[in-house]
Amino acid sequence: MKTETSPMASQPDSAESETESRINAPVNRRSFLRNSAVAGAGAVGAGLLATAPKALSEESHGHLTRGDAALLRFAAAAEILETDFWVQYNELAGIQDDEVPGGSGNSAYATALADIDDDMPHYIHDNTDDEFTHQNFLNAYLMSKGAAPVSLEQFRTLPGSTATGSSGKPRLTNLMKLTLDTSWYTRYRSDEHNPDLDPNFAFPQAVPDLAKGQHTAIPRTDADTSDPNFLQAIVNTALWHFPTIEQGGSSLYPSMAQRATSVEVLRILISIGPTETMHFQTWSDLAGDAVPLTAVDPVSGVSVTFPDLNSAPFGGELFETGLIMPEPCPFLSRKLPRCSIIRPTQTKGVAMGALKFLTSMGLFNGQSSAFFHLMAELAEQADAAVRGGM
Ligand SMILES: [Fe+2]
Ligand SMILES: [Fe+2]
Repeated sequence: MKTETSPMASQPDSAESETESRINAPVNRRSFLRNSAVAGAGAVGAGLLATAPKALSEESHGHLTRGDAALLRFAAAAEILETDFWVQYNELAGIQDDEVPGGSGNSAYATALADIDDDMPHYIHDNTDDEFTHQNFLNAYLMSKGAAPVSLEQFRTLPGSTATGSSGKPRLTNLMKLTLDTSWYTRYRSDEHNPDLDPNFAFPQAVPDLAKGQHTAIPRTDADTSDPNFLQAIVNTALWHFPTIEQGGSSLYPSMAQRATSVEVLRILISIGPTETMHFQTWSDLAGDAVPLTAVDPVSGVSVTFPDLNSAPFGGELFETGLIMPEPCPFLSRKLPRCSIIRPTQTKGVAMGALKFLTSMGLFNGQSSAFFHLMAELAEQADAAVRGGM
C-alpha cells in the first residue's frame, strides 16, 4: 500500500493536483462529523444512491454503525474501480461470456498474454468475475441494512482502448498511462523489513522503469500491436499491474477489518480480503515470467526495460522469480519471532493510503475533480471508523 515513488511522475492535470492536496490534507473532522451526522442511511455524497430499495431494507436485520457502513462503502468503491479496469483486460484478453460480457478479444494481445500461461484467459475472466461479485455483494449488503450503497456511474467518462476487441464504452479507470510501484515484490521477499515497523524503508523496485514515466498495459489502438517487441512490453506491463493491484487489496481488507464493529462486517472483510490474496499470489508468480526486454513507446517516446530478475545485478533472495512464497518478517515487535504475514496491515489512514496508491499509479488519469472529491470523502469516512463506535 505504501509507495516510495514520486506519486505523479508526469505533470498532473489540475483535477489531480487538487486531489493530491485533498488526499494529503488532514481530515476535516468537524466537516466530516457534520456531514455524517446528516448522512445516516442516506446519501453521503454525490454518486451515492440516495435510498435503498424498500424490499431490501425490509430484510434488514439490525443496523450498521456509521463506521461499519463507511468501511464497506469504501471497499465497494474500490471494488467498482477494480471491476472497471479488469473488464477492460477481459474485453481484450479474457473470455467474453454471460458472467463477464463486453468486448470481443484482441487476438494479438490475448495470444501474447496466453504465451505466458495457457490459462491466462481464464485467470483474467475469473479475476474480473470476482471483482463484479465483490462490488455487487458489498452494495447489496449495505442496502440490506438500509445503508446507502455506492455508484460511480456518473464518472464513467474516460475513453478506453480503441483497439480491435474493445467494447469502446466509457471507463472509470485508465490503463494507458500507468506508473507502477513494484516494490511489493521485494517487500514480500525481505526477511528484515516490514513497512509497519520500518515506515521509511524503501524496498527496491523489481522493475525500476515502471516506477517512472507512463506505460500502457493494454493496446491503445491496433497500431500498438504491430511491433512484437512493444506488444510484449505492453503485456509485461499488464503482468506487473495485475499483482501490484491485488497486493494492495490483500493489505486493504485486513487493515480495515481491525476497525469493524459488527462481527458480520468483520466476517465480510476477512472473507473477501483473502480472495484478493489468491489473485495476488497467482499474478505474482506470473509477473516473474515477464520477458526481459527493452522497448520504446512509439507514441510517448518513453523507454522501458524489463530486467532479467534472475541475473546480476538482480537475482538472489530479493529477486529470484521462483521465490513467490512470502518470506517471514518482523511482525508487531522485533522482540517477537518472525512470522509469514500479509504486510502492511496497520489500520490508521489505510483508506486514504489506498486511494493515494491508486491515484499515484495513474489509474484515474483524466478523472474529474468531483470524482477525486467523492473518493477522498469516502476514504476519510472509512478512516474515521472506530471499532465499537456508534
Ligand atoms: Fe475485489
Ligand atoms: Fe482484486
